[in-house]
Amino acid sequence: MSYSKDVIDRVIEENDIVDVVSNYVSLKKSGKDFKGLCPFHHEKTPSFNVSQEKQLYHCFGCQASGNVITFVMNIENVGFKEAVEFLADRAGIEIEEENLSGLEYQKKKLKDEIYEVNRLAALFYHKYLYSKFGQAVLKYLYDRGIDDITIKRFGLGFSPANGLELFNYLKRRNYSTEILLKAGLISKSNSGSYYDRFKNRVMFPIIDEKNNVIGFGGRVIDDAKPKYLNTPETVVFKKGKTLYGINYAKKSKEDMFIIVEGYMDAIALYQSGLDNVVASLGTALTIEQGRLIKKYKNTVVISYDADEAGIEATMRGLNLLDELDLNVNILTVPNGKDPDEFVRKEGFDAFKKLLQKTDTLIEYKIKKYKEDLDLEKPADRIKYIKKVCKDLATLKDEVKRDVYISIVSKDAEIPENTIRAEIDQFVKGFLQNNKKN
Ligand code: CTP
Ligand code: MN
Repeated sequence: MSYSKDVIDRVIEENDIVDVVSNYVSLKKSGKDFKGLCPFHHEKTPSFNVSQEKQLYHCFGCQASGNVITFVMNIENVGFKEAVEFLADRAGIEIEEENLSGLEYQKKKLKDEIYEVNRLAALFYHKYLYSKFGQAVLKYLYDRGIDDITIKRFGLGFSPANGLELFNYLKRRNYSTEILLKAGLISKSNSGSYYDRFKNRVMFPIIDEKNNVIGFGGRVIDDAKPKYLNTPETVVFKKGKTLYGINYAKKSKEDMFIIVEGYMDAIALYQSGLDNVVASLGTALTIEQGRLIKKYKNTVVISYDADEAGIEATMRGLNLLDELDLNVNILTVPNGKDPDEFVRKEGFDAFKKLLQKTDTLIEYKIKKYKEDLDLEKPADRIKYIKKVCKDLATLKDEVKRDVYISIVSKDAEIPENTIRAEIDQFVKGFLQNNKKN
């Protein structure tokens, strides 16, 4: 759904630009305009100008300029639609509801109710963690190197073991059994009674880009199975459509996201000082996750566990991101550790060093081929050349292509021209396929 011009005009009208900018920049009156330090580049003397009369801003230093919507887009790192929604919320304009049909309205109401019970549940779990019943779990988290600030930041909690307390707590607050079922917070037993879905687990609230609690992950604190239990599919939670930590990462000033697999990886990296980490939550990356990334950044660094089973799936995910025109880089954590273990043992600076030594997707693939093939054997050498040439045929950047051609030429002891000819064959093949489709 896109917004009508009327809605957009109203949003602009009801959000005074001086008010909005003042939330981020300290402005001083200067003639009939306002001046402050530009939030979009580093400066010591104010060259950021806001005109209340024209409802526009302009920076004489970096030439950033626009209206209240572009300001929010840039400062909050969001797209147009989200900026409009952000400003509508801010001004209390109910843009959605006005434009929704009866059915859509019902759906939105249901979603809002689920967000509300989820938020209450998250608070309940968090409080329980800090109660006398949560002491052992709190110690478990401290032992894993997580401090109170991080626990609070991520709203971590603990779910009671008896499987009744959350249910009773929310019933006492007059929430219907139906809504708790729809939120995935409770389950129905064979005997027809209801009990909490999450029992005796460390709780990780999963929060979306609009700060809604959409679901939970719960980890056992012993060796019970499954290690992680997640909220089932609900109208607001679809595994594979979200990224854990997106609520924080979207605000990062870094120009890329670091993608890890697990909750603990994301949390440990945050605590160590990175603010642009998201976790894909175990699954291979999906197109929806790719699009979510693309909304905010165009570069990603993937840091996945390097277990063999995962590589095939990882590769599919990487190709998918590549097809979305994201710059894909791969960070390999040495010795089969996951990022959480690595950063805790080796420290932040060591992880930063790894960040500077990432492979591009092509480099990563070339490395993998070399691991699997023995370039001393002619048959393997041929396989190697064919595989790499096929990948290089998809590379649009000529300079990059040339660099890799020279590398492969040395690796496989084959003249560059032969490789170039092979790549051309693949390019032709791709073009013909495209025509057929
Ligand atoms: N996962 C899941 N269900 C499982 C196992 C894993 O949903 N039964 C997801 C979780 O999001 C988990 C991620 O996959 O964080 C990675 O799994 P794994 O590497 O096994 O766990 P870690 O994140 O390393 O967990 P921990 O460090 O707590 O052992
Ligand atoms: Mn781990």
